[in-house]
Amino acid sequence: MSKSVKDYVRSISDFPEEGVLFRDITPVIQDPQGFRLALEGMQELIGDTQFDVIVAAESRGFLFGAPLADRYGKGVTLLRKKGKLPWKTVSQSYELEYGSAEVEMHEDAILPGQKVLIVDDLIATGGTVEAAVKLVEKLGGEVVMAVFLMELTDLKGRERLKGCEVKSVIKYE
Ligand code: PRP
Ligand code: ADE
Repeated sequence: MSKSVKDYVRSISDFPEEGVLFRDITPVIQDPQGFRLALEGMQELIGDTQFDVIVAAESRGFLFGAPLADRYGKGVTLLRKKGKLPWKTVSQSYELEYGSAEVEMHEDAILPGQKVLIVDDLIATGGTVEAAVKLVEKLGGEVVMAVFLMELTDLKGRERLKGCEVKSVIKYE
């Protein structure tokens, strides 16, 4: 039988701290077939959704956001951890499944009225993507969809994104 994306994901207990079951995408992207299945799965969910630019979340989101942007003939703009972007930024702090963080975007990363597709590898608590939505909206953009390779459904991240379409290729409880 042919393999699915889930067959490539490696699950590791108690990383990066006790109680967290870490879903590791490295085996997905290091296998050409796994990587292609992942990108095709995300593309299928995006369908014919119209958007102007992809916002990809540091760092694992870059791995999917950049190739998807190229497939759609669009640009990719970066949501980065605090202190990494060299130009003027807007920033937003948020809570993670493990710890807290602050993300930034360049002030000119989104033009007012632009339709934005957010891409990341995984949605857990939804803190990262919620921060991304806030920054996009602060810059005058409109999030048309957030697409993920994986979703940890028990953490109910999508509930933080009422009013925003959230899609994921594979789900874990
Ligand atoms: C991970 C993952 C998502 C986020 C999901 O990134 O890649 O961006 O956590 O969690 P949330 O839904 O609870 O916000 P992380 O911040 O660990 O950074 P990394 O991609 O650089 O490893
Ligand atoms: N980011 C947040 N929670 C995660 C998890 N359980 N596995 C992989 N990445 C994550």
